[in-house]
Amino acid sequence: MKDFARRLLDWQREHGRHQLPWQGGTDPYPIWLSEIMLQQTQVDTVIPYYQRFLARFPDVGALAAAPVEDVMALWSGLGYYARARNLHRAAQVIVAEHGGRFPASAAAIATLPGIGRSTAAAIAAFAFGERAAILDGNVKRVLCRIFGIEGFPGDRKVETRLWALAESLLPAQELGRYVQAQMDLGATLCMRGRPACVRCPFAADCVAHRTGRIAELPAPRPRKAVPRRSARYAVIIHDGAVLLERRPPAGIWGGLLALPEIPASPADPAEAAHWARERFGLHVSAAQPLAPLTHAFTHFVLELQPVLMQVAQAPAMPAARLHAADAEALLWQPLATRADAALPAPVRRILDALAAPDLFAAR
Ligand code: ADE
Repeated sequence: MKDFARRLLDWQREHGRHQLPWQGGTDPYPIWLSEIMLQQTQVDTVIPYYQRFLARFPDVGALAAAPVEDVMALWSGLGYYARARNLHRAAQVIVAEHGGRFPASAAAIATLPGIGRSTAAAIAAFAFGERAAILDGNVKRVLCRIFGIEGFPGDRKVETRLWALAESLLPAQELGRYVQAQMDLGATLCMRGRPACVRCPFAADCVAHRTGRIAELPAPRPRKAVPRRSARYAVIIHDGAVLLERRPPAGIWGGLLALPEIPASPADPAEAAHWARERFGLHVSAAQPLAPLTHAFTHFVLELQPVLMQVAQAPAMPAARLHAADAEALLWQPLATRADAALPAPVRRILDALAAPDLFAAR
């Protein structure tokens, strides 16, 4: 889009914000202060804080000389207090390393504590008319929508592309007003939810608007990869029944009947059989790993590794003769009636796969 900046500047002249207390001047100090206060905070909230702060600390020297407690006190209620500590530190750096003069380029400003690339560019554009691109959250949203940029804007590749796009759109002049125009468009028209596309000067060209994807652009932060857990479960079979354990009320499968979990330490099947003998007082034959399966919970994916063990010695130990500590929670569930039991889905899948007639016939 060749005339993006021109159209945005034209829109801003008519519809932008022109009366904000930090507008109009070229002293970088109050501009810097306003930009820091306006990070994560609404204009209406910022205005009284901004005015009190400037009245108490009218220039960089006054701020640098103040005890940090006084700075924090004037910030109190604005939140994100690292902003205030960085502001104070930056003022001291300006006094100590720049002779008390605010650095006069975006690159130099960006070396100060608490000032990132976009904020440095905004200050330099407002104060010095420097031709540097900004890319805050609002601008990212606007660019992603108008130009149909796919991907999460916080992703490094997408962000690099957005910076290049923002640079390519810069006008030759009126940089301060251009920066303000981008902020105004993002804050008053192209909001995150329910943007006012009917009033937007770019509606006819906006990829998101034209394709009905306003709600999808910019793409949201991708969901974090869910952690995977894996556990082995004892499938102890006797006489057409499987040994199940009632889960405690809290936690996964609370109150349901599940296969007993084999602790991590007996790694091989022979040891698993030994563990079963110890734990349940059951004489089981060598353990045989079955096909694993996965089950997705909200916060993790569980890989279940079923380990089949047959009770070798007849007669079977009835539940009453299982070790006392476990007896209440344990029961023999006949496979034939498993449909009526309160089983978690993956346990049911394991038992369904197991209930092949040849496994339990004639023993
Ligand atoms: N948000 C960040 N900077 C701003 C500014 N200069 N005016 C209005 N809102 C802003």
